[in-house]
Amino acid sequence: MTKFLLGVVTGVALLSFAVAGYFLSGSAPVATDAPPMPMEKYLAKKALHAVLDREMPKTVPVSADEPNYLAGAQIYKDNCAVCHGLPGQPQTAIARGMFPKPPELLQGKGVTDDEPGETYWKVVHGIRLTGMPGFRGSLTDTQAWQVSLLLAHADKLPDSVKAQLTSPPPQSPPAVIKGTR
Ligand code: HEC
Repeated sequence: MTKFLLGVVTGVALLSFAVAGYFLSGSAPVATDAPPMPMEKYLAKKALHAVLDREMPKTVPVSADEPNYLAGAQIYKDNCAVCHGLPGQPQTAIARGMFPKPPELLQGKGVTDDEPGETYWKVVHGIRLTGMPGFRGSLTDTQAWQVSLLLAHADKLPDSVKAQLTSPPPQSPPAVIKGTR
């Protein structure tokens, strides 16, 4: 029994040294253009889904209709498009330089196969160490649901909402700089 315990303690100590060595010796990737750590994607996904299963809301308090999609489209353009892109627009320099890459949410299937409650949780809390911000302090609860509903139904949006997403932002008039002479 004592031998067995000694073996366990030695094993744990060796493993702790190996993990600490990996991080402290500069072997762990820290740059966005470095390759992923062994099992990084797998573990991050498992950890996120374990929390989502417990915490994501199962009922949606905002109705999936045109006015809410239109509000969601404006929220998306103001807060999300820089990373997640707009239909027919090239990827921004910000999105290109990120690790992990922000998925294009309005092209392909995006997150149309996720429950709106899952997307709502991600919008409110963000996803740590990925660059995905949490918007709890910036968007109201209704706004977080509106943008989540927009993304959940991104493959079947009414034409008015598609037009809103592709319309250019309003041009602000050129600033008038007062001359000193
Ligand atoms: C600064 C860049 C950035 C901004 C701004 C941003 N995101 Fe993200 N987002 C990311 C990144 C990077 C990921 C990928 C995270 C990962 O791989 O786990 C992500 C992931 C997501 C996901 C999960 C996608 C999936 O396939 O599961 C959703 C949903 C999402 N973002 C929605 C939004 C919404 C809605 C907004 C605006 C309110 C927003 N994001 C703003 C960078 C951003």
